[in-house]
Amino acid sequence: MGYVHSMTENTPGPEHPRELTMRFLAEPGDVNYGGKVHGGIVMKWIDQAGYAAAVGWCGRYAVTVAVGGIRFVAPIGISDLVAINAKLVYTGSTSMHIAVDVTARDPMGMHDGGQERLCTHCVIVFVAVDQGTGRPVPVPQLTQESDEDRRLAEYAIKVMDLSKDIEHTIARYRDAETEA
Ligand SMILES: CC(C)(COP(=O)(O)OP(=O)(O)OC[C@H]1O[C@@H](n2cnc3c(N)ncnc32)[C@H](O)[C@@H]1OP(=O)(O)O)[C@@H](O)C(=O)NCCC(=O)NCCS
Repeated sequence: MGYVHSMTENTPGPEHPRELTMRFLAEPGDVNYGGKVHGGIVMKWIDQAGYAAAVGWCGRYAVTVAVGGIRFVAPIGISDLVAINAKLVYTGSTSMHIAVDVTARDPMGMHDGGQERLCTHCVIVFVAVDQGTGRPVPVPQLTQESDEDRRLAEYAIKVMDLSKDIEHTIARYRDAETEA
């Protein structure tokens, strides 16, 4: 992960960190012809931060199964200081649902007084897998301890339901196309 200059962890316990933040500068190679960071690059950062949070939580290998509710709210410019915050908000039996916020600010403070702004957010879902069989395996359960925890878990479940609905809709159209 060449981009990571620092990583801080807000942990309920050393064995199962629940949250982490990656911080680094957006580099010239990350930007598109308009001088802003490519959406695909932002998605790669989200996947990396989500992966680190997921494997940190379950202590084993995990794969991305879905990304829901992704929204590019504001662009990221070259040399912006970027922060990718990944927080586990819900666990199923084998899945870990991680809310990711991507923020950025001008470290020189020339634009917007160096104010941090939200650029992208989403929920990314990882599944812990057995590396031998590739099959899902159970993960340690997250307990919701505050109203905020419960609100975030509800949000993750809603995003997952919407994402599964989209999957079913696509499958129906695909099947209809094959039959036609
Ligand atoms: C991830 C994978 C192992 C799951 O296998 P599967 O046979 O679909 O397993 P299951 O149906 O039991 O689903 C596993 C979990 O994924 C969850 N899941 C499936 N589709 C989902 C979606 N659209 N959104 C959120 N979660 C989803 C299920 O709810 C289940 O979670 P739970 O055990 O907590 O209830 C398999 O789909 C796979 O290998 N996918 C490719 C992964 C990959 O290559 N990722 C990119 C590179 S890392």
